[in-house]
Amino acid sequence: MNSEDTAQNEGPTAYPSAAPLEFRSVGKRYPGADRPAIEDLSFAVPAGEICVLVGPSGCGKTTAMRLVNRMIDMTSGEILLDGKSITTRKGSDLRREIGYVIQQIGLFPHLTIAQNVATVPKLLGWDKHRTERRVAELMELIGLDPDLGARYPGQLSGGQRQRVGVARALAADPPLMLMDEPFGAIDPINRARLQNEFLRLQSQIRKTIVFVTHDIDEAIKMGDRIAILREGGHLAQFATPDELLAAPADDFVAKFVGADRGLKRLTLSRLADVELADANVAHIGTPAEEARRIAQQHGANELVVLDSAEQPIGRLPIERLNGLPVAAEDAEPLAAIAGRDTSLHDALSLVVADRNRPLVVVEADGRLAGLVSLELISNSLRPPE
Ligand SMILES: Nc1ncnc2c1ncn2[C@@H]1O[C@H](COP(=O)(O)OP(=O)(O)OP(=O)(O)O)[C@@H](O)[C@H]1O
Ligand SMILES: [Mg+2]
Repeated sequence: MNSEDTAQNEGPTAYPSAAPLEFRSVGKRYPGADRPAIEDLSFAVPAGEICVLVGPSGCGKTTAMRLVNRMIDMTSGEILLDGKSITTRKGSDLRREIGYVIQQIGLFPHLTIAQNVATVPKLLGWDKHRTERRVAELMELIGLDPDLGARYPGQLSGGQRQRVGVARALAADPPLMLMDEPFGAIDPINRARLQNEFLRLQSQIRKTIVFVTHDIDEAIKMGDRIAILREGGHLAQFATPDELLAAPADDFVAKFVGADRGLKRLTLSRLADVELADANVAHIGTPAEEARRIAQQHGANELVVLDSAEQPIGRLPIERLNGLPVAAEDAEPLAAIAGRDTSLHDALSLVVADRNRPLVVVEADGRLAGLVSLELISNSLRPPE
């Protein structure tokens, strides 16, 4: 180990790089308010998971986040970070240790991007070299051109600013990240891109994350677990996205997740997760007799035609077999081909668009993997184990 790695100016590390978080009967009443903003809220987030808080405006999502880093103090209950009550730590220490991405990003407009990202390392007294290295590493991690480091926030797009907000929150390798509607102000296309990037990033960094949104689709996409809150910070349901969609706890949750919850559930599974049906196949050059026999054996009225590389090139209805060996020109081109990473939702859409005919699925190398039918998709909607 070289001497630079045994960093100076580094205080004792209070937490591991991802820590569990637990709310125990937490209550918060703002001074002068006649009702508590949060009353008796309990849930636990395992280390390294994304927990999404979702619910209508004013239900207490931002309040719950601010209690965690002691921007405001709870009036009852307990919050444990890594098993230790947050009240044993000073608010200013917690705010340095916990990454926070706020509703409107909140970059400092008079500081450059690099200086913004370096905010917490500077507060922690890191030396210049260590800080610069960390900033460069984070710019790369979030996919921002290092040249942007010298710009000011006003000279970036909304999506770029958002990435900088995430980088800044990650700077000191926090055990926990609080993200309050981080993608709320971004257009739908860039929003989807940021969500995907963030999920990819999370698969590397595995932080514990509390993520607030009022968009149920975002919650389903981002959350390992979802806490649905109703007014007064009451927990309506705490469950995985699949459980929530398969079995909403009550009418409030059922309305909140939407009448199309079955279809939404299909977005959570990919063709890689289901057992595909075997296709009845014929290769180019297979004698007509043999092709007919294969179809008859399985009661099929069509075959999938494969080329010599086992890649599907079309469908062949058996009435098209004309006594000559199977030829590419006899096959009807496929309306669509799906990969293993296609979601069941998209697969359903492709099946329906092709008059409910089973969809051909291929492996990454283009070879036939199997078929997915309407029936197979609807069977996958059985209740979760
Ligand atoms: N500083 C404050 N003083 C008094 N009441 C407050 C304060 N901040 C929030 N509240 C009230 O507490 C409740 C919860 O507010 P909070 O900001 O946590 O809601 P939210 O779920 O984040 O809403 P949104 O989705 O609109 O951001 C609301 O009724 C709000 O009016
Ligand atoms: Mg809020």
